[in-house]
Amino acid sequence: MSIIKVAILGFGTVGEGVYRTIQSHAAEFTAVLGKKVEVAAILIKNKHKNRDVGEEVLLTTDFDEILGLPQLDVVIEAIVDKEPTFTFLKKAIARGCHIITANKEMFAHHGKELLDLSKKNNVSVGYEATVAGGIPVIQTLRQLLKINRVSLIQGILNGTSNFILSEMREKKQSFAESLCQAQENGYAEADPTNDIEGFDAFYKAMILSRIVFGEEPEWRDVERQGITSITSELIAAAEKLELRFKHVASISREDGYIIASVKPVLVGNENPFYHVEGVENAVNVHSDIVGRITLQGPGAGMFPTASAMIEDLVYVCQSRPAERNAVKITAECIGSSKTVEQK
Ligand code: HSE
Repeated sequence: MSIIKVAILGFGTVGEGVYRTIQSHAAEFTAVLGKKVEVAAILIKNKHKNRDVGEEVLLTTDFDEILGLPQLDVVIEAIVDKEPTFTFLKKAIARGCHIITANKEMFAHHGKELLDLSKKNNVSVGYEATVAGGIPVIQTLRQLLKINRVSLIQGILNGTSNFILSEMREKKQSFAESLCQAQENGYAEADPTNDIEGFDAFYKAMILSRIVFGEEPEWRDVERQGITSITSELIAAAEKLELRFKHVASISREDGYIIASVKPVLVGNENPFYHVEGVENAVNVHSDIVGRITLQGPGAGMFPTASAMIEDLVYVCQSRPAERNAVKITAECIGSSKTVEQK
């Protein structure tokens, strides 16, 4: 049986979740793809830390060592920051690999370039995990968007913020205690400023805007607020009025312009977001044929995010055979042309 060789960049919460899921669901991969999926390498930061992975897996701090493997079909990226991530993924595409990413910030900034590059190189890009954790919102929108005209999309897109607001209301915990709990549970970003100040939800909203409307608003025109101004007193006062604070991203097209905001809003119990609690995310899509659809599910954490990435693994492998034709590199010499074939 042929094998799909995968590299995972990063072995934090998400990278480890992807590795464990590939091991635990080996039979499902084989049944769906007709091929074995093998993790060939993992890019790590610290070579001296003990990690519970098979001996056959190359653990390296050098991305070029991974690129030099004789067979590499898919690169799954689960690290933070725009760089060196963007550079790694461009190199992986040039090497002929499909790529899968969970990196919202990098993809909001460079997603279009990666998608364009992937087309040129005849590989696929999976980015389901960049928006709404384990909810298959991108795949759903791809299906929905074929004929429906979407007018508005709204979402609770940051699991950490929703978790903090829920804990403050339900358990009467302080903001700081609730944030610590979100960090311990593996929901928050390495720098939680991105979560609590609304940057994470902003990046996700921009990715959704591009999928739904094919374009983004001017980033500087988007109202962005986090949840740091929402005190326990405000939450209690809202509760007396049967209202709840939710951190909501909203993107619509009006008169040809994309209007977007990311901010805390008050919702009543007739609103589907009222009942979205804890680390859950939810996305409301309003479109002309189907009306309103609400998708809801876990928005962060090890296995929800791994779920999105390993479903993407199937998506990219099925979009084009993993055993690719040899890549032809043509080197022009004066008066002649030589072709080098590289697998
Ligand atoms: N920190 C992010 C969140 C992780 O809390 O939503 C998932 O994107």
